[in-house]
Amino acid sequence: MGCYPNLFSELRVGQITLKNRVVMGPMLVGYADQNGRVNENVIKYYEARARGGAGLIVVEASCVDVPTGKEGVGQIHIDEPGCIPGLTSLAKAIKKHDCKALIQLFHAGRQTSSQITGVPPVAPTRQGLTPSREVPRELSRSEIKHLIAQFVQAADFAHRAGMDGVELHAAHGYLLNEFLSPKMNTRQDEYGGSLENRMRILLEIISGIKAQHSDLVISVRLNVDDFTPGGLQPDQSAIIASELEKRGADIINCTCGTYESGLTSIEPASYPEGWRVYLAEKIKQYVRIPVVTGGMIHNPAFAEQVVAEGRSDLVFLGRSLLADPKWPAKALRGRVHEIRPCIRCNGCINLHFAGMPVSCTVNPATGREKQYNSRIAKVAAKSRVDIVGAGPAGIQAALTLDKMGFEVALFEKSSCPGGLLGFAATPPHKDRLKDFHQYLASQLNNSGVKQIYEHQYLIGDLQNRQPDHLIISTGSRPQTPKLPGIDRCLGLEAVLSGQVEVAGEEVVIIGGGSNGCEVADFLLQHGKHRITIVEGRSRLAADMERKNRRDLLNRLEAGGVMMLVKHKVLEITPTGVVIADATQQPREISAQAVIAATGYRSVNQLYHQARRMMSSVYVIGDALRVRGFKSAILEGHMTAYMIYQEELKSKRSYSIDSRGC
Ligand SMILES: Cc1cc2nc3c(=O)[nH]c(=O)nc-3n(C[C@H](O)[C@H](O)[C@H](O)COP(=O)(O)O)c2cc1C
Ligand code: SF4
Repeated sequence: MGCYPNLFSELRVGQITLKNRVVMGPMLVGYADQNGRVNENVIKYYEARARGGAGLIVVEASCVDVPTGKEGVGQIHIDEPGCIPGLTSLAKAIKKHDCKALIQLFHAGRQTSSQITGVPPVAPTRQGLTPSREVPRELSRSEIKHLIAQFVQAADFAHRAGMDGVELHAAHGYLLNEFLSPKMNTRQDEYGGSLENRMRILLEIISGIKAQHSDLVISVRLNVDDFTPGGLQPDQSAIIASELEKRGADIINCTCGTYESGLTSIEPASYPEGWRVYLAEKIKQYVRIPVVTGGMIHNPAFAEQVVAEGRSDLVFLGRSLLADPKWPAKALRGRVHEIRPCIRCNGCINLHFAGMPVSCTVNPATGREKQYNSRIAKVAAKSRVDIVGAGPAGIQAALTLDKMGFEVALFEKSSCPGGLLGFAATPPHKDRLKDFHQYLASQLNNSGVKQIYEHQYLIGDLQNRQPDHLIISTGSRPQTPKLPGIDRCLGLEAVLSGQVEVAGEEVVIIGGGSNGCEVADFLLQHGKHRITIVEGRSRLAADMERKNRRDLLNRLEAGGVMMLVKHKVLEITPTGVVIADATQQPREISAQAVIAATGYRSVNQLYHQARRMMSSVYVIGDALRVRGFKSAILEGHMTAYMIYQEELKSKRSYSIDSRGC
C-alpha cells in the first residue's frame, strides 16, 4: 500500500475510472507546430507527465475556431480533421501509462489580440477591452450557432482521436466565461441578459456533444468567482454547475479569476497553499458529479487532506507538474523530499505571454523532453569533472553529470551549497525557494558527487588534480558604485542574513531592481522603518515577472514605501543621501541607514587562468553573466550534455542506461 490513500484511490467519472485523484490541470505551453498540429515535442512533454503518475491529464486549451479563437503561438488547433492523427498519437502516449486523457476546448473571446488572430477579437457584447486595448466585435446570433457547432465538432475530433473526453473552458475570462458573466454579457437575444440565457451556449454545446457521443466524458472548467466587480460570483456559479450536471456534464473543474482581476487565476508566490479550495467546496454542495480543486497546491499531504475531508473529489496540479512530472509517483512512494518544488516564480506563464514556448526555471527538461529524456549512454570509463562553485549552476551541472556516470567533484569556498539561494530565499513569500534550496542539497547528498566545502579552488588545485573537464560556476559578488560616502552603505546580503542590524527609523535603499524591492519587503515585516527606494530607471523591479512584481509593489505601497524612480544618487552623507531627478536639482533625503542594492558582477578569474592550461573548460551561470537562477540551472544542465558529447567524440566506452537525465 502506498502513501496518501485517499489521494491515490480510484474514482469513477462518467464511463471511465481514474486510478487516482491527481489531475494535471490544462496548461497552454505552446509546443505545437505553426499550424497547431501536435508534434513530438507535445507528445513527449505530456507522456512524461502521464508516466509520472497523474490519474488524468487535461491537455491544454486547444482552439476550436481558428483564427478568431486563438490565443497564442504554438497552441493546438482542433478545428478540422487534419488534427486527428496528431491527437491520436497524443492520446495513445498518455493512455499507455494508465492515465486518462481529456482535451480542453477553447475559444479566446476578447482575451486575445488581432496581432495573434489577424482579425478583430470577438465577444458576446462590445464590452471591455482586449489585453492589447482593442474594443471587441459583438458576435451575431448566427456566429454563435457556428461556434456551438465548432465546439461540438471539436469534441467529435477528440473522440475519433481516442481521447476519453473533453473539457469546456468556461473560465479565466475567455469566451464561454464571458457569456456566463452578468457584466460582460448584456445581449438582448436568447444568449444574453438573464442567467438562463447566459448559460444557454454552454448547455447547447453539452447537448450537442452528448447527442453525438454519450460515452465521452465532459468536464467544464468553471470560474466559480470572476473576482471582478459585477462579474460571476459563487452563488450564480453554483446554479450554473447544477444545470451543467442536469445537461450531462461529468466533472466540474473549479477555478477563478480573469485577466481583469489580475492575480487570482495563476497566483504569485504570496498566495497560501490551497487558498481556493473553498470554491470547489461550495460547488460540491450543489452537484453529485465529481468536482476538481487546485491552485497553489504543492504538498501531497495537503492534497490528501482535501480529498480525505471530502472538500473536493479531485485535485489538479498545474505548475507543480511543470516543475516535476513525477510528483504523483514520488508522493505515492512517500519520496516527497525528492519532489522538485515549483518556486512560484511564474517564469513559465511569463514566457507564454511573451509569445514563447513555456519552460520552467527549476526544471531544465520541461519542454525539452524530446531532447533530454531520451536513452542516455552512461560513461563507462570514469572521466573526471571538477566543478568550482556550488551555486545552482554548479549543483545542476554536478547532478546531471553524476547521472551520466562521470566522477564529479564539487568545490565550494563557503561551508554549504546553494550560493545566492540562501539570501534570495530570505524575503517574505520566498519559502518555496527555501524548499528548492533544500531539495538541491538533498539531491547532492543522495548522489555520487564528492562535495568539498570551505575550499577555495585555485590554479594549483587544477595543476595537481588534472581533471578531464573543468566547470567554473563561481557566481557573482555585489557590485559597488563609485559614490562619495559609499562605505557608509550596508550590503544587501549582510542585511538579509541578519549579520547587521538596520538601525534607525529612516532607511534609503539605493537600487530598485527586484533585490532592492525585496529587501524593502523584508524590512517592512519589522514595521519600524520608513523606507525610500531610489532607482535610476523608470520602473521598479523591472527584472521581475509581472504577477509577482505587481504583488510585491502592492505590498510596498501598502507599507508606505516611498518609491523614487528616474532619480540618481549623487552622494551618501553622514545624515542621508543626496539625490537628483531629471531637473538635476540635488536634494538630500535624511536616513540613518543606507542599503546598497546595486546589482552583482561576475566572478570568473579562474576561467581565464584555466583556459591557458586545458581545453575543456566551461564557465556557466552568473560567473558567465549575471542573470539569475533560470539561466544558471539551464546552463548547468546543458553544459553537462556538452561535456557528454565531447566524451562521445573522444571514443571512450559507454554502457546504455534507460533512466534518462
Ligand atoms: C503556463 C500556464 C499555462 C496555462 N494554461 C491554461 C490553459 O490552457 N487552460 C486553463 O484552463 N488554465 C491554464 N492555466 C492555469 C492552470 O491550469 C492553473 O489553474 C493555474 O496555474 C493554478 O494552478 P497551479 O498553482 O497548480 O499552477 C495555465 C497556467 C500556466 C502556469
Ligand atoms: S517556471 Fe517557476 S512558477 Fe513556473 S513551474 Fe517552473 S518554478 Fe513553477
